[in-house]
Amino acid sequence: MTSTPGTPGTPGTPGTTGTTGTSVTSVTTPALELVEVVKEYPGEPPIRALGGVSLRVDEGEMVGIVGPSGSGKSTLLHIIGTLDRPTSGMVRLAGVDTSDMSDRHLSAVRSQLLGFVFQQFFLLEGMSALDNVANGLLYRGVALAKRRAAAKEALERVGLGHRLQHVPNKLSGGERQRVAMARAIVNRPAIMLADEPTGNLDSKSGAAVMELINELHHDGHTIIIITHDRELAAALPRRVSMRDGHIESDEREPDHAAAGAR
Ligand SMILES: Nc1ncnc2c1ncn2[C@@H]1O[C@H](COP(=O)(O)OP(=O)(O)O)[C@@H](O)[C@H]1O
Ligand SMILES: [Mg+2]
Repeated sequence: MTSTPGTPGTPGTPGTTGTTGTSVTSVTTPALELVEVVKEYPGEPPIRALGGVSLRVDEGEMVGIVGPSGSGKSTLLHIIGTLDRPTSGMVRLAGVDTSDMSDRHLSAVRSQLLGFVFQQFFLLEGMSALDNVANGLLYRGVALAKRRAAAKEALERVGLGHRLQHVPNKLSGGERQRVAMARAIVNRPAIMLADEPTGNLDSKSGAAVMELINELHHDGHTIIIITHDRELAAALPRRVSMRDGHIESDEREPDHAAAGAR
């Protein structure tokens, strides 16, 4: 488990639910709440990508968002990630209603509450793995030495303690994605959002990345993964299936429920 200096009391900090009952989910603030989220893109007529989506994800859950191409998965991720605003409806992150926030306030909330992992890694070339991860804390007002210390710890957590000074193009695809995951967790986000995290990896590196995501889940991280990979989805404790901008089904494996919230 990583610990980030100087950021006590972050909402949704993994493993600090402090509840003693068996039903963790009923008493803690949900990590994510969507209420009747509609998203229309401009057009004649407008394109309704999300037709009123309501979803609650509790702290410590790992959820897969699955569905065919065009069903609204990426739109949903962008809206959960505050990268885009809904046309109507509410998005609440760790209890914080984002509806009326200015762009500036939103980007602060994003840097504090969310960690992103994308198919394309989005690492900065010409910058070490350590500094790519330390950059994840830029907006937290943490001094460079502390950012680097936290980055080192996060990289050790993902098994890259021996690659701190490597630049991305000296790393394999699987290693790059692990750097991206270290960057996503370094600020101890309330939610880690992953969009097709294994999409650019060979099956062996993809499996290693999924294993790491599972470990992070068991550490207590709340994780939402978008995937169209059926095999990957089948292994997840909860699957939300999208179709035509709606949630078609929401299935949980009873024995997996809130595994990360122990
Ligand atoms: N920026 C955009 N402008 C217009 N239409 C869009 C835009 N992004 C997505 N769409 C449309 O919204 C629907 C959902 O797309 P998307 O969320 O990308 O689905 P998925 O990720 O499941 O493939 C599709 O019909 C798509 O064409
Ligand atoms: Mg998509």
